[in-house]
Amino acid sequence: MEKEKRRIAIALVKLNLLCLLAAAGAIESPRYTIVHAESDFEVRLYGNSTWMAAPVRDLSFEKATLNGFHRLFQFIEGANLNYSRIPMTLPVVTSIVPGAGPLHSSAYAVLFYLPAKFQATPPTPLPELHLKPFNWTSHCVAARKFPGFAKDENIVHEAEQLAFSLSRSTWANATSAKSGYAYSIAQYSAPFQLIGRVNEVWVDVDASNCTSSGIAAY
Ligand SMILES: *[C@@H]1O[C@H](CO)[C@@H](O)[C@H](O)[C@H]1NC(C)=O
Ligand SMILES: *[C@@H]1O[C@H](CO)[C@@H](O)[C@H](O)[C@H]1NC(C)=O
Ligand SMILES: *[C@@H]1O[C@H](CO)[C@@H](O)[C@H](O)[C@H]1NC(C)=O
Ligand SMILES: *[C@@H]1O[C@H](CO)[C@@H](O)[C@H](O)[C@H]1NC(C)=O
Ligand SMILES: *[C@@H]1O[C@H](CO)[C@@H](O)[C@H](O)[C@H]1NC(C)=O
Repeated sequence: MEKEKRRIAIALVKLNLLCLLAAAGAIESPRYTIVHAESDFEVRLYGNSTWMAAPVRDLSFEKATLNGFHRLFQFIEGANLNYSRIPMTLPVVTSIVPGAGPLHSSAYAVLFYLPAKFQATPPTPLPELHLKPFNWTSHCVAARKFPGFAKDENIVHEAEQLAFSLSRSTWANATSAKSGYAYSIAQYSAPFQLIGRVNEVWVDVDASNCTSSGIAAY
């Protein structure tokens, strides 16, 4: 158990360093187009992309994120059949489906975006990591930024704030029925970064009028 804690601590220190690189623009992120911008959220179109997913059974968002991230970190550090080292990418995304877990708890999956070099051929994770590749087809999300730490205590509130903003916008009826209440928390900051932290809450929106005729591409 102590050994496990130490390994997680080392992983977090490394992530901290990687996030400094990210701030310098040296880290890959999935590309998107801004389709619509409001004061407190924006609607983005993401293209097809391949991610590595760590499904987690836990009651807590924070514990689920730590557990999933730790498995993904081992994978990118070389715990794959090719012994490939895979550069860190951001954000780390935790998808949350309320009520879909055991005893009506939430179901969680932590997602790692594969760098361009590995998009077409993701290295196969070692089986004990229980990871699986995930093709995230082109989709639109409404994204709302929030500062500080993403915690069990505040993520539901952040998701509700986004739902409220959407309900008052032209996207009121555009939240995808297929994802229900599902939302994701995207984290861009390292665990030890105390100021200037960036997180987002994402909700899928219907792609019918979410085209690539957007304002700006990132
Ligand atoms: C994205 O993936 C879908 C489903 O796999 C496919 O039909 C579509 O052609 C892909 N689009 C691009 C731009 O690759
Ligand atoms: C992994 O190794 C196999 C066999 O050596 C090779 O065919 C494949 O291209 C490698 N995949 C990656 C992502 O490097
Ligand atoms: C993702 O898409 C690629 C290319 O279309 C396909 O070979 C692969 O099997 C898909 N992976 C999953 C997990 O669906
Ligand atoms: C999206 O389409 C719906 C119905 O077609 C329309 O009411 C809404 O205004 C559109 N939203 C935007 C942002 O264009
Ligand atoms: C959303 O749907 C409701 C019920 O059909 C309708 O009254 C409302 O005007 C719609 N809102 C928007 C922004 O399209």
